[in-house]
Amino acid sequence: MVLLICQHCDYRWDYQGENEHYATCPTCRYKVRIPEEKAQMLRRKGLDMELKSKFSLKEQHVKLRGIAGIVNKTIEDYQYDKSMLIQILLRLQKNFGWLPMEMLLEVSKQLGIPLGQIYQVATFYKAFSLAPRGRHLIRVCTGTSCKVRGAPIVLDRVQSSLNIERGEVTPDGRFSLETVNCLGCCALGPMMTIDGEYYGNLKLLAVKRILSKYT
Ligand code: FES
Repeated sequence: MVLLICQHCDYRWDYQGENEHYATCPTCRYKVRIPEEKAQMLRRKGLDMELKSKFSLKEQHVKLRGIAGIVNKTIEDYQYDKSMLIQILLRLQKNFGWLPMEMLLEVSKQLGIPLGQIYQVATFYKAFSLAPRGRHLIRVCTGTSCKVRGAPIVLDRVQSSLNIERGEVTPDGRFSLETVNCLGCCALGPMMTIDGEYYGNLKLLAVKRILSKYT
């Protein structure tokens, strides 16, 4: 844990970023200088992350090799029915976590549907992801109703807590962050979901506690 204290507003937080010299205070946005011994801790942490992400890349490579088999098994379950394309993609997304281009190619080949058509479907629906996702998917609502109730500040807090922007994955693969236009509970805004679990009437202080529940 790299505990920093803002010299401007005295706010204390566990800094998760990678910058070894300065950090931005999540509360007042003041630039806080990082002392050398804490910078060393960050360097050690960075190396750990790098090794972990290398490991997961290797794992992904092993997964990619089995793609043809996975696709074949799924398509067989749907009896090669072209009209079940969305269900097939949903099943693949659920089992694999995301839809690599190799997988779309394989679906195209085995189902006899042009790749362009499959790509259109995969990019149209938010349920599909063409890039790896983290273990937990955070969706912060930035719709009008949530916006007036403080969604931008909540989003900012999530981003600064995880040190990622919307559309990104944390380096340890723990979280993906997305924004949506409405989660269907406007009266409870600001809202976010994590892996489909709803969190409403969000207060800034609660964000970190909620995130810490997911490992
Ligand atoms: S606008 Fe956020 S839930 Fe509807």
